[in-house]
Parts: sequence; C-alpha cells; structure tokens
Amino acid sequence: MTTAKYNIKPAKGKLGVMLVGLGAVTTTFIAGVEMIRKGLKKPIGCQAWMGTARLGSRTENRFVKLGELVPLCGPEDMVFAAWDIFSDNAYEAALKAGVLSHDDLLQVKEELSALKPLEGAFDKGFVKNLDGNHVKSGNRRQLAEALRADIREFKKSVDRVVVVWAASTEIYCEPTGIHGSIDAFEKALDADDKKISPSLLYSYAALMENVPFANGAPNLTVDAPAMVELAGKNRVPISGKDFKTGQTLMKTIIAPGIKNRLLGISGWFSTNILGNRDGEVLDDPESFKSKEVSKAGVLDTICSKETFPELYGDLYHKIRINYYPPRGDSKEGWDNIDIFGWLDYPMQIKINFLCRDSILAAPIVADLAVFMDLAARAGFKGIQEWLSFFYKSPQTADGVYAEHDLHIQKIKFKNTLRHMAGEELITHLGLEYYETE
Ligand SMILES: NC(=O)c1ccc[n+]([C@@H]2O[C@H](COP(=O)([O-])OP(=O)(O)OC[C@H]3O[C@@H](n4cnc5c(N)ncnc54)[C@H](O)[C@@H]3O)[C@@H](O)[C@H]2O)c1
Repeated sequence: MTTAKYNIKPAKGKLGVMLVGLGAVTTTFIAGVEMIRKGLKKPIGCQAWMGTARLGSRTENRFVKLGELVPLCGPEDMVFAAWDIFSDNAYEAALKAGVLSHDDLLQVKEELSALKPLEGAFDKGFVKNLDGNHVKSGNRRQLAEALRADIREFKKSVDRVVVVWAASTEIYCEPTGIHGSIDAFEKALDADDKKISPSLLYSYAALMENVPFANGAPNLTVDAPAMVELAGKNRVPISGKDFKTGQTLMKTIIAPGIKNRLLGISGWFSTNILGNRDGEVLDDPESFKSKEVSKAGVLDTICSKETFPELYGDLYHKIRINYYPPRGDSKEGWDNIDIFGWLDYPMQIKINFLCRDSILAAPIVADLAVFMDLAARAGFKGIQEWLSFFYKSPQTADGVYAEHDLHIQKIKFKNTLRHMAGEELITHLGLEYYETE
C-alpha cells in the first residue's frame, strides 16, 4: 500500500462514532457492527469493509480491498456513543424500531443494552411530531457548550471521533442572515435565536471540537454557510446530506440508464408508504418539505432540461410519502415512469420496491464514519464531495451542480481513493482504442 500522496495518518487505535439519534437507522448500524465483530454476519452493502478497487491497467488484473488501498478503520476498532431525546438504551430502541428480529438482537443484547444515550439538544419547533423527555436544558449557547463537553468527554476514551446525524428530519429552513457567517451565527447563538435548529447546534459543537460531521438527514445543517466557513477555518471535513436509500437510490440507478440511451421521460411519479418513527415525523408537512426538496433535485441534473429540452423539457416529477403505521420499517415504494423513444412512441416502466430502509441506510452510516475519518487523517477539510455516492442531495461547493448519477458518483469515490493512495486514476480509456489504427 502506498499512502505517499497525502501522507495519510494510519488508522491506529479506536474510532469513536458519535451518533445523533438512537433510532431505527443507528441501532441497525450498531447491532450490525456488533454482529460482524462476532463473525455472525457479513458487512453487506458496506464499501469500506467489502468494496474493492481495480488498480493500474486492465492487463495487470490487480484488485485490492479498499482497506488495502488506504488505511481504514475496521469494525473491530469502532466505539459508539449517541445522543437521543428518549432515554431508551440501544437494545430497547432497536426493539421499538422493529427492524431486526428479536433473535438477532438477542445475540448482541449485552453490547446494545450498555449503550445509553446522552441527553439530546431538542426544540419541538423543529420536529413537530415528537415530544422528547431526555433533553438538555439551557439556552442555545449553553446547549452548544454542553454538546461540546459531551464530545470532549468521549474523546478521552478513543483516539479519533466522527459525528453522524441520523436524528429525525427537522422542518425545512432556508438559510437566513444568522446562517450566513460564523460571526452572525455566534451572535445568534448568544442571543438564543429561535431560528437556530438543534442540528446546527450539534454541527457547530462538532466543528468547534475539530470533529468531522456527516449529515444523514435532509435538514439544513452543515450546508449552512456559517458551518461551511467553520469547517474551512478549523480544517474539518463535512458532508451531506440525506442518506441515499430506497426510492431515490433506485432513481439514481435507473434514470442514468434511460438518459444514457437518450430516451425521453415525460413523467416520473413516486409514492411510498412507511410506518416507522421517521414516517411519523415526515407526516408533518414542514418536515416532509425538507425530504421533498432533497428527493426532488435528483432528476434535475441526471435528466437535464437545459441539455436535452426535447427529452426532459416537460418532465413532470412528483413524490409522495405516506405515513402508514402497519408497515413499520418495511417500506413499499411504487414508481411509474412514462418514457418515450424513437418517433415519440410512449412506453412505461413500473417499479415496486419492497425495501427495508434502515437495512439500506446502516452500511452508509458505517461508510460515512469510516471515510470521514479517512478524510480527516488525510488532511482534507470542508465539503467532501467525493462522498456524494452516499447521499440523496450531495453537498457541493457554491455554484457547482451536484452529481446524482450513482455510477459517476462511484467512479469519483474510487478515483479519490486511488488519488489519495498515489495510484493512477481509472478513466476506462484502454490502449486498445488507439492501437486499432
Ligand atoms: N431510514 C433510511 O433509509 C433513511 C434514509 C435517508 C435519511 N434518513 C434520515 O435519517 C434519520 C433517522 O431515520 P430513522 O429511520 O432512524 O428515524 P427514527 O425516528 O427511528 O430515529 C431518529 C431518532 O432521532 C431522535 N431525535 C430526534 N431529534 C433529536 C435531537 N435533536 N437530538 C437527538 N436525537 C434526536 C429520535 O428520538 C429518534 O430516536 C431521519 O432524519 C431520516 O429522514 C433515513
């Protein structure tokens, strides 16, 4: 392995993963890591612990595990902490979430029961359908300081820390003046400005403690300009937003294929039912709006109206999420795609995806923890666009459009790892194309 390019620090010692929210996604992630450590399960869906990369030219036939290309934290070296606004330990929370079977949970009951959440920083104004009873008190400045103290305390027991937000989706917020700069944000913090959401308090606390922050939900968090500035100033990696799972994952797999064949799309209707707590939170129109905006952007860049007005100029994209308690975490999504081809002849594609949201999200939490830690050890700072692969609504630098095509995102992700390791980038341009002349 060569790490000369960036002088990446080794992944030595323990990585502390601090999770905001101890709900369906995070308990499924933690239980999974515990089972993997015990050799009971494989890390299916996880790039860091299963993924490979081809190196050099095709004739070399050189494939390595990603962990052989760059130094990555393994499952055995992760330590967990979490905040939640309910006091259930991880075992109780996992039972309530109802994602994993009782039999599976029993195998890691001891480890999960030992994980008790720290009190969360909460404001019901941002998540209307929840009433937490395990919450910190104080004004916003005091809450931010309390979160910073939590991080410092956890740091004492591990070698490095990353924070991943997987708490409930907050209401939709446009950035305003208080989000515009560190200075404005800190003044608003001191004034206990009600426009500062809890997720901003967590991200501020993490960045002030030089801890990378990944945002798994669609709310305005590390994408607020003040946080981008803070991440740059303190040289900390940030990334977001909204784990790419379920229907949007399908969309970013299928839409590029339709576009690559230059087929037109006149309409794409997506609807789904889900019955977990996430669904309950999204039943509030203001939280749903955050999700809707995050999901809707996906087709805009893959099927660009500007580049292909004749194919996508009239594309009607509609997304519905319906809270339906009987389904629990077992979501069902339907997509109807009206496409057209040669001579405008119409065709239809129907997708019926019976997915398990948290099963798709859990390996993403693992990957984000591992790769955000890698970014920090490589000295990367600010927005980590190469991690777009994992997000529904990838955070980009100002003025740069977000790449949504899963296949392009994957190339960018792996090429970044090759680049970090000082390996040649893979462009799929083999010598054979030139030698036929
Ligand atoms: N499940 C998926 O596939 C998926 C995909 C993309 C994004 N997400 C997002 O991930 C988040 C978690 O999803 P989930 O299914 O685990 O939801 P969940 O409702 O099961 O868990 C969220 C947890 O966050 C806690 N919480 C809420 N506000 C908090 C705060 N301020 N501080 C600390 N804890 C707080 C809740 O009490 C709850 O336990 C949601 O925002 C969801 O939209 C999930």
